[in-house]
Amino acid sequence: MSYFSIAIDGPAGAGKSTIARALAKRLGYIYVDTGAMYRAMALHFLRKGIAEDDFSAMEEACDSADVSILYQDGEQLVLLNGENVNGLIRTEQLSHMTSVSSANKKVRLKMVELQRKLAEHENVVMDGRDIGSYVLPNANVKVFLTASVAVRAKRRFLEQQAKGIVCDLSEIEENIKERDYRDSHREFAPLTQAPDATLVDNSDLTIEESVEALLDLCKKAENQVDVWKLQ
Ligand code: DC
Repeated sequence: MSYFSIAIDGPAGAGKSTIARALAKRLGYIYVDTGAMYRAMALHFLRKGIAEDDFSAMEEACDSADVSILYQDGEQLVLLNGENVNGLIRTEQLSHMTSVSSANKKVRLKMVELQRKLAEHENVVMDGRDIGSYVLPNANVKVFLTASVAVRAKRRFLEQQAKGIVCDLSEIEENIKERDYRDSHREFAPLTQAPDATLVDNSDLTIEESVEALLDLCKKAENQVDVWKLQ
């Protein structure tokens, strides 16, 4: 039996996780947040005191990191060597380390293997940077979700503020530009729109409107057999 897969790629702050999670819920699929997996790896490197430019230490440390995911009440939990690290992987420092360490090929291959295994056994909505272009080249639906830098920075700013974190909008905007550049210019499996992905710019869309836009794309996809039992 083959499973249905929906690949959602795009830069930081386009609302991928929120939208992908909601879409998965509507379709009754598993949501796979691949960024969280790279974040768990980066946490492992930070805990080992590895410098951000020490790729050989990262490659060595890969072997002592077991990243896995688990679903609890429909939510994805990321485990690092058995420890639930969901609450530890969203800081700006970790975002930076993740953007740097995820450029490493060994790190990527380890995570890609896990991602492909998940898609072999479940219907998935998977979000990331290289899902449609590299991880699941045969995904049934591919979306490249983006928004302007200004809109993405504002969203991140409001998110951080709501958590009570003091932050600076222009600094967030600079960080976003820097991560966009790094994610899309790395040598191996960079952030890119797959040729057969549909571009959705949600600068002027709400979350709900974005989810509806993606649901429409899913409905239009071929091989719809048995998959549109919306919950
Ligand atoms: O989606 P996110 O912000 O949680 O991703 C964190 C970092 O991980 C981001 O800098 C890009 C990287 N990443 C990646 O290289 N490939 C993926 N499939 C997902 C995330």
